[in-house]
Amino acid sequence: MEEGEDGEQYLFKIVIIGDSAVGKSNLLSRYARNEFNLHSKATIGVEFQTQSVVIDGKEVKAQIWDTAGQERFRAVTSAYYRGAVGALVVYDISRRTTFDSVPRWLQELETHSDTTVAKMLVGNKCDLDNIRNISVEEGKSLAEAEGLFFIETSALDSTNVKKAFEIVIREIY
Ligand code: GTP
Ligand code: MG
Repeated sequence: MEEGEDGEQYLFKIVIIGDSAVGKSNLLSRYARNEFNLHSKATIGVEFQTQSVVIDGKEVKAQIWDTAGQERFRAVTSAYYRGAVGALVVYDISRRTTFDSVPRWLQELETHSDTTVAKMLVGNKCDLDNIRNISVEEGKSLAEAEGLFFIETSALDSTNVKKAFEIVIREIY
């Protein structure tokens, strides 16, 4: 967290984590640029976007970091998490394996974070309700057990994307 010279600007680092292809990069592009890519490539290394949000009349800047879900494409893990005060932990509601990985991602976050982190469990691709494998209830109860917020999103049709980021930003602020 950083405070600007005038004491009115804040920069918060938020990380997005979760298995490959759950939609991390599309959640970020939908939020930051209102863009969605049906054929996006796996992320290699780290990317980030800075997004301004006005909360209670003050400008808050969120620096949102996105990395590869695939181990072999990931950058230095400790640097990725350093200074993060918020995290979106994403799974794909149509793929059970991505939900089963959530505790592992939380463990990695726990290991590498240096402060308290506001965490949101995100069940993405809720537009794929017809091939859903994880119920809303299951998502909710995992979030409750682990002390996270919970939301289902769709980067494809924009459902709750803004809300997912802004609940975390508001909590940090
Ligand atoms: P890595 O960079 O490999 O970790 O993957 P990622 O988590 O960044 O996934 P990415 O955003 O690249 O999306 C993977 C695939 O899922 C792409 O084909 C996207 O178009 C698709 N996708 C992402 N979000 C959604 C969504 O909300 N609904 C649907 N139906 N497809 C989505
Ligand atoms: Mg990606």
